[in-house]
Amino acid sequence: MSAPAYHSLKKTDPEIHAAVTGEMQRQVEGVELIPSENYISRAVMETMGTVFNNKYSEGYPGRRYYGGQTYADAVESLAIARAKKLFNCGHANVQPHAGAPANVGTYFALLEPGDTVLGMDLSHGGHLTHGHPVTYLTKIFNFVRYKMKDIESGEIDYDEMREVARREKPKMILAGFSAYPRELNYARMKEIAEEAGAYAVADMAHIAGLIAGRAVRSPFEDGFDVILSTTHKSLRGPRGGLILCREAALGAKIDKSVFPGFQGGPIMQMVAAKAVAFKEALRPEFADYAKQIVANAKCMAEAFMQSGARLITNGTDNHLLLIDCVESWGITGREAEELFDRIGVTLNKNVIADDPRKPMDPSGVRLGTPAVTTRGMKEAEMKKLAAFMLEAVARRGDPAGLDALHAEVKAFCKKYPVPGIGEN
Ligand SMILES: Cc1ncc(COP(=O)(O)O)c(C=O)c1O
Repeated sequence: MSAPAYHSLKKTDPEIHAAVTGEMQRQVEGVELIPSENYISRAVMETMGTVFNNKYSEGYPGRRYYGGQTYADAVESLAIARAKKLFNCGHANVQPHAGAPANVGTYFALLEPGDTVLGMDLSHGGHLTHGHPVTYLTKIFNFVRYKMKDIESGEIDYDEMREVARREKPKMILAGFSAYPRELNYARMKEIAEEAGAYAVADMAHIAGLIAGRAVRSPFEDGFDVILSTTHKSLRGPRGGLILCREAALGAKIDKSVFPGFQGGPIMQMVAAKAVAFKEALRPEFADYAKQIVANAKCMAEAFMQSGARLITNGTDNHLLLIDCVESWGITGREAEELFDRIGVTLNKNVIADDPRKPMDPSGVRLGTPAVTTRGMKEAEMKKLAAFMLEAVARRGDPAGLDALHAEVKAFCKKYPVPGIGEN
């Protein structure tokens, strides 16, 4: 497969065309280890650029505020049916424009202003949308926290969670994270939610692909009420959001909240692309892919730990690793991000649990395996990638050494074409 040419774009807007081809080159020649990123298939990419962009479809299939919905209804119905099958649940809303709108849509569907949400502490892995003070959400809802009991094992303090739930009487208990490498005990959380009379909601944005591929447990298996997600991370779809309900009965509340409560018209080309991605994720190969993501992350974690690096929770159960760079290598997370960028390895700086440093220059980096696994890399390649990064640490302050390493990384990447781009 050759890279998309974008002839019309080139003619109309050479500057944007140059940026698009530059970005394609960057993706092909570099190693993508940001755990929330992935490479979509050519089919998903093509669908995102279709004429559905031209269509307004406010409402839901069979109940729209505009005419001409034959094909829009068909794609949204397919997306809904496939999402329900993939996640084995009673209701799916495929319209959230991204993960944050899926969070907001869910909160407003299930909560009243002033209600309390019990979510994961942000420095212990929770996401901004779980009640960071910089978000508007904290002006409306009251967020309280649970944490890890033990940073070495990553075990959550479920006894404390129960105490907080008894004291604070949350209306929602929120599982989910963007920087936590272990599996949560959903059964225990559901029990605590039941006792508190709270909804059990999981934000599985990061691990949706792992759940779809049965590489980790689904919160629905333990009776969670709602799962919300992005579709563009491990699930390998277009940028977008998704809200699922275990029971169909809760669906009407969610639908009303997404539209007209919060959003306007759905971005129908993205809904169509979600349908394509769900079809891809329903194939048996996707389960192999999901399991390989986890195997790769475990292997890379082992390689770093063997070198003496300190990993938060001493390993991983999912797709991501969190490394304490200050303790491991005597550099900050920002310095590590810049150093690895220099050799064509992209990851992101990240706070570690109870980090004494600030988010723009924290102690850690976060990295993950969904994208490199999409390129067909396995355990041997994970060891090689860890070796490249450790070598970069050893050669920091040696520009020529880093240049040579960058050339090696580029040559290595050439062997693993990016699906969707192909040879560039
Ligand atoms: C757990 C979690 N929830 C929500 C979001 C927000 O998703 P988006 O960036 O698509 O709005 C993210 C994104 O990083 C996330 O990790």
